[in-house]
Amino acid sequence: MDGKIVTAVGTPNKALIMYWGNRNTQLNLPFNSSLSITLGGDLQAKTSVVFSKSFKEDVIYFNGERIVLNGKAEGKMAALKLVLDQMRKMAGTTSKVLVVSKNSFPTGTGMASSAAGAVAFVYAASEALGLSLDTAQKSILARNISGSACRSLDGGFVMWHKGSNPDGSDSYAEQVADHRHWSEIIDMIAIVSEKQKKVSSTEGHKRTSSTSVLFKARVPYADAAVQAIRESILQKDFDSLAEITMQDSNNLQATMLDSWPPIVYLNSTSHEIIEAIHELNEREGRYVAAYTFDAGPNAHIITRTRDKAKVKEALSGINGIKQLIEVPQGDGPKILDESESLIDPETLKPVA
Ligand code: PMV
Repeated sequence: MDGKIVTAVGTPNKALIMYWGNRNTQLNLPFNSSLSITLGGDLQAKTSVVFSKSFKEDVIYFNGERIVLNGKAEGKMAALKLVLDQMRKMAGTTSKVLVVSKNSFPTGTGMASSAAGAVAFVYAASEALGLSLDTAQKSILARNISGSACRSLDGGFVMWHKGSNPDGSDSYAEQVADHRHWSEIIDMIAIVSEKQKKVSSTEGHKRTSSTSVLFKARVPYADAAVQAIRESILQKDFDSLAEITMQDSNNLQATMLDSWPPIVYLNSTSHEIIEAIHELNEREGRYVAAYTFDAGPNAHIITRTRDKAKVKEALSGINGIKQLIEVPQGDGPKILDESESLIDPETLKPVA
């Protein structure tokens, strides 16, 4: 185990039924279950990990920035340190770690890459420590770092069971169908803004669940929507998938606006996109595409490969769209070959 370099790659996911609000903030235990599509293509985070007795401290290089994981670590880095300690305990070791992580997300798109990074880390570290964990166990570790990341532990369509145990042992991700089941489904991401989100998701989860009156209605609604969309996926019923996806996006944005102080992530271009998709669907007399937004103004347009030209055409007149990226479904995290390592095996330092 000591000195074994393992490299893994992880990808982000886009929720169709979203996670927003925690019943336990420490463990990222959600109020409602959620369901997502694992994204593939170029949106990848690559992470190499090595544990060694020769290291004096835990160090992570994140896109070239050196961060020491000590008591001063904050936010996601503090959560990562806790997970690291947990994994070391499971493996019965005290060796410190070197983590080198890079992502190949198109730069300047303002797209969150933390899920991909968290998943690649858990995948590589559990292999480096010789832990034989199944997907559900790894998803629990990833959930502790960044809630929605747990759904990136598998490919295709993935459901995150909210669970009810106070320790989070039944709050894990499970694949509904792999990427081959309905491979025609793609995500066309319309980049509208490159700015960081105004309200972090950590703050948003808290604010909405503690102040929004509508949020109380959202929780049972979202749980029912997860079950309904699961059926749409299994039956490959695009009409119902599209309708449920758009309704969940609007429901979530409504609870965000209903928070106090209000949270507004969409901008005028996002609203133009919403209108354009409704017009497209009406014009065609069927569901061609569905929009869904996260904690930001960028639109994810869920459609089928056969209809992508129609979507492009429908969005072509919207000036505020900076980039349209076509993303296929991903098949989940992977261990990569030694030749892909970001750590030099001779020096145990990041490769230049
Ligand atoms: O995992 P977090 O804390 O970044 O929250 C993600 C929340 C949404 O992206 C808005 C929804 C989701 O389920 O991914």
